[in-house]
Amino acid sequence: MSSDKKAVLSWGEGKSAEFPVMSGTMGADVVDIRSLYAKTGMFTYDPGFMSTAHCRSSITYIDGDVGELFYRGYPIEQIAAHCDFPEVCYLLLNGELPNAKQRSDFVNIVTRHTMVHDQLNRFFTGFRRDAHPMAMVCGVVGALAAFYHDSLDIHNPEHRTISAFRLVAKIPTIVAMAYKYSIGQPFVYPRNDLSYTENFMRMMFAVPAEEYKINDVLVRALDRIFILHADHEQNASTATVRSAGSSGANPFACIAAGIASLWGPAHGGANEACLNMLESIGDASKVPEFIKKVKDKNSGAMLMGFGHRVYKNYDPRAKLMHETCHEVLNELNLKDDRLFKLAMALEKVALEDDYFVSRKLYPNVDFYSGIVQRALGIPTAMFTCIFTLARTVGWIAQWSEMIGDQDSKIARPRQLYTGSTSRNVSPIAQRK
Ligand code: ACO
Repeated sequence: MSSDKKAVLSWGEGKSAEFPVMSGTMGADVVDIRSLYAKTGMFTYDPGFMSTAHCRSSITYIDGDVGELFYRGYPIEQIAAHCDFPEVCYLLLNGELPNAKQRSDFVNIVTRHTMVHDQLNRFFTGFRRDAHPMAMVCGVVGALAAFYHDSLDIHNPEHRTISAFRLVAKIPTIVAMAYKYSIGQPFVYPRNDLSYTENFMRMMFAVPAEEYKINDVLVRALDRIFILHADHEQNASTATVRSAGSSGANPFACIAAGIASLWGPAHGGANEACLNMLESIGDASKVPEFIKKVKDKNSGAMLMGFGHRVYKNYDPRAKLMHETCHEVLNELNLKDDRLFKLAMALEKVALEDDYFVSRKLYPNVDFYSGIVQRALGIPTAMFTCIFTLARTVGWIAQWSEMIGDQDSKIARPRQLYTGSTSRNVSPIAQRK
């Protein structure tokens, strides 16, 4: 981890201090500045963590310049081609892909935790029917802590494991319940003879009057959406989960914090915002006008589903999503889908435009995932909940890794104070 390399900081008149440089297995070295304040009396200033590694992690690695993503060292393209979502969950949580027996044991345990406490149903009825489903999912996941007092000791590895199973198993049930509640249909309970993704689709789309017919192409497409969103190293919501967990908060509270962070349009809310953007553009003939608006900084318009803090190349997940988009639209005889054509036209124009080229703005995973979800029958307001479902496993893996890391400390950043200097309080009658 540490290397012989050192970084030297010089400031003022002839002052300097030396800091160790740490190397990972891939990616940029990091300067270990933990002793910066002690050695220099200064802090660093880095809003948005543009240059700050806030932890070490062995789960996911992104090479943003090349456009590569690895889960535990496996390229995402190979994972997407050869694994299903439960295998990916096992990999993220345990570090290795499961063999057949390990996979079957894992699926068995997850399957047997999919039901939620009956009392939890009442939480949904406390919400207005028109509540955003993310508000419901965020609240209900946080509330799970009230049901599982038996497994909240974060320093007990068995408790951490059981909480991980519960979260991975129950999140599809909770997301489907939020949807059913929002459209006024009865909840559909999980069925143990179905796969993880089949089960979720049935809980979303079956009604007491009619069983849901499972279509393998559509199940595979949704499973791929889950795989592609399962983890993405230190993004905003994962950093939020780690930050919440650094105080010793229970995993359900931490995941609820992650859900709140994911909801924002610059993060998980982007797929919803992207589809709304496509709807508002209308058709391919309006693309030049829209691109002109995006380039005008005063318009406030952005090309949603484009750009990424880390990828300065094509997001590899966007390529896979584009492929899945074709498969799903073919299967459903929607080859001429208006929004898909519009998205492809938009992408083509943007990739040839100097504004996007010079800023290295490429499509991210959300550019096509909304179109796939819409074709699967998932309404726009549910998109970020689907992302939540998939990312839950990544959040737990990252939370668990943090708890086990000796270097972890409560996340407590410093600041550059720019307020008033010390002054005296005047009695109220003397204040202007
Ligand atoms: N449309 C138009 N311009 C953009 C876009 C975009 N989608 N994204 C970035 N830019 C411009 C910025 O205005 C800025 O221009 P400037 O240099 O002239 O000021 C430049 O590109 C750099 O952008 P930053 O905002 O500094 O990049 P940052 O790394 O902070 O932001 C982010 C990344 C938040 C993803 C941004 O690209 C964005 O908001 N994209 C749209 C929302 C989106 O798709 N989010 C999903 C992210 S992936 C995920 O969470 C699954």
